Amino acid sequence: MDGYLANLPDVVRLAEDYEAIVMVDDCHATGFMGPQGRGTPAHHGVEVDIVSGTLGKALGGAVGGYIAGPRPVIDLLRQRSRPYLFSNSLPPAIVAAGIEALKLVEDGDELRSQLFENSAYWRAGLTDLGFELLAGEHPIIPVMLGDARLSQEMANGLFAEGVFVAGFFFPVVPNGKARIRTQMNAALTREQLDVALEAFAKVGRELGVVS
Ligand SMILES: Cc1ncc(COP(=O)(O)O)c(C=O)c1O
Repeated sequence: MDGYLANLPDVVRLAEDYEAIVMVDDCHATGFMGPQGRGTPAHHGVEVDIVSGTLGKALGGAVGGYIAGPRPVIDLLRQRSRPYLFSNSLPPAIVAAGIEALKLVEDGDELRSQLFENSAYWRAGLTDLGFELLAGEHPIIPVMLGDARLSQEMANGLFAEGVFVAGFFFPVVPNGKARIRTQMNAALTREQLDVALEAFAKVGRELGVVS
């Protein structure tokens, strides 16, 4: 939610000390973090026991997801996982598209470096305008506003300027931590980012968020 990366090296070290297993929900990293988009564990160069991922975010917006882990865990989930047991399976076309998306992701280093370049440019632009961001390197870049109503007014104002963003507020995030969650995209050009920055500046000034 916040675009923070978990400190997996320390988590894994602790798990080794206590003979625990580590599970990572990597939905917000699959496809673009780490070499070949292999996710947060690969980004940190560590191995974990169980990884869950989604086909519905960086892999292209389809439905569904997956859990990767040791055979006994997968066998157990096949018997006990309620969403898996009491739901129709993924349609074959979605599975085929997911497999193709994974192939694109493996060869996507150029797009990935563009994504992180765009993210850094966007972060720097918003910071220069005076917006408060949550620090980091992740392409999820939350613009902190605090107030739920303000986040909705800001999102509406930006939409009127041609920029689609969503306001996030309680109960999705803690009370008083409302924000606009921007998400960077490798396909956006510098010119498009500049247009969006101008819109943030205009609406932010109108609403007294920045001066
Ligand atoms: C951390 C995390 N895990 C899992 C999911 C679920 O992904 P999906 O909607 O593809 O099932 C989400 C959705 O936003 C998420 O934020």
